[in-house]
Amino acid sequence: MKINEEIEYQKEFIDKVKKLNEGKKLTYNILTMGCQLNENDSEKLCGMIEKMGYTKIEESKQADLAVMNTCCVRENAEDRLFGKLGELKKAKEEKGTIIAIGGCMMQEKHIQEKIRKSYPYTDIIFGTHTLHKFPEDLYNAIKEKKRIEDVIDIDGKVYENIPVKRNDNLKASVTIMYGCNNFCSYCIVPYVRGRERSRKPENIIEEVKCLANKGYKEITLLGQNVNSYNGGENYNFANLLKDVNKIEGIERIRFVSPHPKDFTEDVIKAIKECSKICKIIHLPLQSGSTKVLKEMNRKYTKEQYLELAQKIKKEIPEIVFSTDIIVGFPGETEEDFEDTLDVVRKINYEQVYMFIYSRRVGTPGDKMENQIPEETKHKRFNRLKSLVEEQTENNSEKYVGTKQKILVEGKSKNNDEMLTGRTETNKVVIFEGNKDLIGKVIEIEIVRNAIWYLQGEINARNSLKIE
Ligand code: 5AD
Ligand code: SF4
Repeated sequence: MKINEEIEYQKEFIDKVKKLNEGKKLTYNILTMGCQLNENDSEKLCGMIEKMGYTKIEESKQADLAVMNTCCVRENAEDRLFGKLGELKKAKEEKGTIIAIGGCMMQEKHIQEKIRKSYPYTDIIFGTHTLHKFPEDLYNAIKEKKRIEDVIDIDGKVYENIPVKRNDNLKASVTIMYGCNNFCSYCIVPYVRGRERSRKPENIIEEVKCLANKGYKEITLLGQNVNSYNGGENYNFANLLKDVNKIEGIERIRFVSPHPKDFTEDVIKAIKECSKICKIIHLPLQSGSTKVLKEMNRKYTKEQYLELAQKIKKEIPEIVFSTDIIVGFPGETEEDFEDTLDVVRKINYEQVYMFIYSRRVGTPGDKMENQIPEETKHKRFNRLKSLVEEQTENNSEKYVGTKQKILVEGKSKNNDEMLTGRTETNKVVIFEGNKDLIGKVIEIEIVRNAIWYLQGEINARNSLKIE
């Protein structure tokens, strides 16, 4: 079947399930683990599920359909899934809740087996390459009362036009590419998400234009390795950034994650030239030690990473960075860890996502013999955390007295009288203002650093909105 025919075929199942469910007022709950790509996949699942007549509720034990979209990048997600499955057993017995598990973890053979053996009451297992077939799988599970296992191990295709139900009405994620070819030695992603494949530029542009028409202001372009986006002959990530920047109505563009080894001059130039691209770059470091980076198969050295950051900063002086760091990769010595701290000190990141190395079955890292004891990993993690906290506190202090462009997101959760928004660098700002400002980008003066957020004031002279 051709790709677009496949989606049309699924629409028939959407209608069939909708008919089966007519008048039943059914509910569903979805639990999403992991990264923004998974969040975006879940928005597609929600789009399909709501079209089939289900209404979203917060409590999975009360739902008629409980879906879990899993992640397997680190071990803790497994404990969470099995805990949840245990809880759902009773709901299944009492009200026949349909239990469906999908996503990255389901691509792993040992997990499939564990579910078959220990959680046989699971109705549907689907993988990363069969998400678009959820309506057909659900129909078969209901109609045939069969247990469905729909996981395939291929490089995957790019499906367009799957219904989407978005979580937010100002900020939206748009996946531009799927899969990964890098095989970093700690990472499971290339095994569960297949090889890199990019969406066509025209489909991405169309989706963003559509979002702009619906009132969305901020777009995050997503992919495991966005700067190896390949939109066809002579069309790369820099071209895509420039084209998205032209779309009227969109005020802010973000992207995650680029790989330092693929950060080309033209992308730096595009970030500099495109006014809507937020001047914060997520540049995953993983480790600051050249030796560990080599073992991780990251294909850059400590010096190359620092040079890249310097080069970007020279071109775009206002740029700041965020990063991902793994602590305790096999063979990491005290000296190697010091190199990581050294890079953190030198770059002075705006935000650091810190992870303790987690062994993943099937990756080269898992087979390495020089694994680091848990205690050492935790101690190093805490040392890194203290340094990062100290830096972020100092960085927040620097905002006081500056003027910042804020995308006003809504009323503050804790105080109805106040509004909340974010700076380009993703800092939360709380300030007093009229709710007509929601959805606009305005200039705010930062008056206080309240640790968890910044307090701002709309300066009387500058209260005109910037558009
Ligand atoms: N252990 C710990 N962290 C990991 N990451 C990926 N694989 C692992 C692992 N096995 C982290 C990396 C990546 C982020 C999404 O998750 O830092 O950038
Ligand atoms: Fe994993 Fe490396 Fe690919 Fe990122 S680039 S998804 S860390 S293999």
